[in-house]
Amino acid sequence: MRASFDIQSASGAYRVAIGEDLVRAAIAAPTHRIFIVDRRLLPQVQFITDPIIEIEASEENKALERMAPVIEQLKRFGATRETEIVAVGGGIVQDIATFVASVYMRGLRWHYCPTTLLGMVDSCIGGKSSINVGMYKNLVGNFHPPAQILIDLAFVDSLDAVQLTSGLMESVKICYARGAEEFGTYLKLAPAVPLGRDKAARIIEQSLRAKKWFIETDEFDQAERLLLNFGHTFGHALESATHFDVPHGIAVGVGMLTAYRFAEDAGRLSEHGKALAGALMEHVRALLGPVRHTLSSLERISPQSLFEHFKSDKKHSQTHYRVIVPVRDGELERISLERNDATSAAITEAFACSLSEL
Ligand SMILES: NC(=O)c1ccc[n+]([C@@H]2O[C@H](COP(=O)([O-])OP(=O)(O)OC[C@H]3O[C@@H](n4cnc5c(N)ncnc54)[C@H](O)[C@@H]3O)[C@@H](O)[C@H]2O)c1
Repeated sequence: MRASFDIQSASGAYRVAIGEDLVRAAIAAPTHRIFIVDRRLLPQVQFITDPIIEIEASEENKALERMAPVIEQLKRFGATRETEIVAVGGGIVQDIATFVASVYMRGLRWHYCPTTLLGMVDSCIGGKSSINVGMYKNLVGNFHPPAQILIDLAFVDSLDAVQLTSGLMESVKICYARGAEEFGTYLKLAPAVPLGRDKAARIIEQSLRAKKWFIETDEFDQAERLLLNFGHTFGHALESATHFDVPHGIAVGVGMLTAYRFAEDAGRLSEHGKALAGALMEHVRALLGPVRHTLSSLERISPQSLFEHFKSDKKHSQTHYRVIVPVRDGELERISLERNDATSAAITEAFACSLSEL
């Protein structure tokens, strides 16, 4: 084991372990266990002898109507209230497992082995599920934290450059949101792609310890934890305008650039705040460089169209847009912008500027 620590939550503490051979250890438990596994990873977990529900990791498969067949499979495999679920996969498998574990017979214990870097550095803690309904992404969900999180570094080996970059974007976002010290420690790790297991382990630990503070301070997303939406409101516009052709973490990277542009043009970023925010932007641009091809579908999409997608984000209210922007040195702030023509023009311009920089 390389590291382990606990996360406190309203439903009890749960442990995060980072190391090798952790999925193998999970099958040695005496309780009745049913695995939910990303189909692509089956060759890597052939040693599992418990029943397996296979999931193809697509957005269609985390739609609300696709939950019923997963729940039926649990019943066919004999799941009772004592059964524990073990989920092995990225964010799609996590969302499905969180949701079905929370509702099956009013709730089962579950364990999560994240297999994408994005899952390892970010989504594995916090206990949220996000499920799609019709054309609306992540419209419904709930909180049901796992009993433990097992981060098996062997899964890092098979991740490609785009998946690794996506994970690093979420990692740098969390560390920057936590403050200057954490951001400085993150940069000292020199995060870059390719990424070996040793460096991945250090980045994962740094990132999760930073996120732990947000979750323990504001588990249910009312105040401090909202800062982790940095880059997301702008990023979601890129994802939905390209029908999810732009991967989530890459969209968050461009979203952070757009938030910076908006803050600077709107006079929200003080001169004193530019050094660290500038270092963040430089790092994000350096990460995006080698995976620029993932943004090619944006060439056919205008900044005005991106703004139309931005408008429908679920974080806005009827009267105001809500965005997270860099303000003072190393600090983020959640601001409300009245829905009017001036705001529309400023946000459209920020999209145009950030995209022209890439
Ligand atoms: N609930 C939350 O807190 C939360 C947070 C962030 C994102 N999400 C959701 O997670 C989803 C995105 O998740 P994601 O990017 O982790 O991945 P994913 O589950 O969509 O997987 C991305 C791709 O990577 C493959 N893959 C997974 N592990 C691999 C490995 N070790 N080697 C090679 N390929 C591997 C998958 O088969 C898939 O093709 C989105 O639906 C997003 O909304 C949820």
